[in-house]
Amino acid sequence: MTIEPTAFMTKMEKRIGFTAEDKAILNAHADWGKSVASTMADHFYVYLGRDEEMDAILKEKEGRMHRLHETFIQWFYEMFTGVDNWGDKYASIRWHIGLVHVKIGIAPQHVVPAMAVVVHEVGKQLKADGKSEELQAALGRICMIDLAFIEQAYVEVSTAAVLQETGWTEKLFRRLIATGANSM
Ligand code: HEM
Repeated sequence: MTIEPTAFMTKMEKRIGFTAEDKAILNAHADWGKSVASTMADHFYVYLGRDEEMDAILKEKEGRMHRLHETFIQWFYEMFTGVDNWGDKYASIRWHIGLVHVKIGIAPQHVVPAMAVVVHEVGKQLKADGKSEELQAALGRICMIDLAFIEQAYVEVSTAAVLQETGWTEKLFRRLIATGANSM
C-alpha cells in the first residue's frame, strides 16, 4: 500500500471542505439515501451500458452486473452513514474500491464522467423530493472525496508498479514524467 487511507481521507476532507455539518446532514438523511439508492444504481448502470468499452467490462463476467448493482447500493448508502463516522474503516473501504477498479483496468476517463452522472442524477432526485441545497452540497463533497480515492489509486498503483519493476527512485520517476510532459 502506497498511501495511508486515513491520512488521505483527512487531507481530502480538508481540501474539499467536507465539514462536521456535512456529516450531520448526511446522517440525518441516511434513510432517504437508502430509499433512493436502487434508483441511482439503475441510472448509473444504464449510463455505463451506453458506452461500448464500459459495457464490455460489465458483461465480461457472469453475475457481475447483479453484484455491481448490490455493491453500488451499499456504496451509495455508506456516503450517508459514513460507516465509522468517515474514519479508518470508511477510508479503507474507499481505498479498496479504488484498487478494484485499477485491477480491472478502469481508467480516470471512465470514472470521472461516471461520478458526474451520480452527482447529476442525485441532484435531480433531491430536487424532486424537495431536499435542501445543503444536503446536495454535502453529497457533492463526499462524492468528490470518493472519486479522489479511485483516481489516486490509479496513480499510486501505476507508480508503485514502475518503481518495483525498474528499481528507479521516486525522484527519478517524477523527473522522467516532468521531462516527458515537457516534450509533448
Ligand atoms: C462513480 C464511480 C464508481 C463507483 C462509485 C463505483 C463503485 C463500485 C464499487 C463499490 C465496487 C465494489 C468494490 C469492491 O468489491 O470492494 C465496484 C466494482 C466494480 N466496478 Fe465500479 N464504480 C464506479 C465506476 C465504475 C466504472 C466507470 C466502471 C466501468 C465499467 C465500473 C465497473 C466496475 C467493475 C467491473 C467492478 C467489479 C465487479 C465484480 O466483478 O465484482 N465501475 N464499483
